[in-house]
Amino acid sequence: MTLHIKVSPSLLAADFAHLADSIAAVEEAGADEIHFDVMDGSFVPNITVGLPVLEAIRPLTKLPIDIHMMVLEPGRYAREFAAAGGDIFTMHIEACDDLEASLGDARVAGMTAGVSLKPDTPASALQSTIPLIERVLVMTVEPGFGGQSFMPEMLPKITEIQDMARIADHQIEIAVDGGIKVDTAGEVIEAGATTLISGTGVFNYPDGMKIGIEAIRTAGN
Ligand code: DX5
Ligand code: ZN
Repeated sequence: MTLHIKVSPSLLAADFAHLADSIAAVEEAGADEIHFDVMDGSFVPNITVGLPVLEAIRPLTKLPIDIHMMVLEPGRYAREFAAAGGDIFTMHIEACDDLEASLGDARVAGMTAGVSLKPDTPASALQSTIPLIERVLVMTVEPGFGGQSFMPEMLPKITEIQDMARIADHQIEIAVDGGIKVDTAGEVIEAGATTLISGTGVFNYPDGMKIGIEAIRTAGN
């Protein structure tokens, strides 16, 4: 059986004046999820969107929405993001004082709990919590901005997390985010990533998003 590689377009690269059209277009183009970047201006230097925008887009798609919380102490907001329609709640390990408690907040709110690692954070930071985690997001750029270049030095981290999960006999979905495009997708898939988040790589694909999504998904073949 071949593994299904999921492609999750990041709305950060969409046209914010026509979000509904962008969402309809990525769904039609075969996206598996929608990636929704929340930035607080403290954990990262940028500020993006939050609850009212999530509420507005939720009725527009049946796809799962992954909330990428680039926010300090994200667990504080788990209940509100779940109520607004979030399905996956991805929190940065660097932003949580008590990661286990934050994972609990996401789960109690009814969402899949994900943990994200900035480029400088090693895989070993997850060692004690791996059995509690359903999904890991390996950042392949410094979080905060779209359109940056992929960091190939993150590839061994993906494989290391795969190995840690195997040793713990625990299944983990590994997502990657930052600089993922057709020309970088193959190597992250080979390293063990199964969910590919892509902003500019999908929205700016020259031959259109449908061909772009399929090209990213099959880049490892
Ligand atoms: C960056 C965000 C990403 C961003 C990726 O901090 O987390 O989701 O949209 O953009 P690309 O795919 O253009 O690098
Ligand atoms: Zn993101």
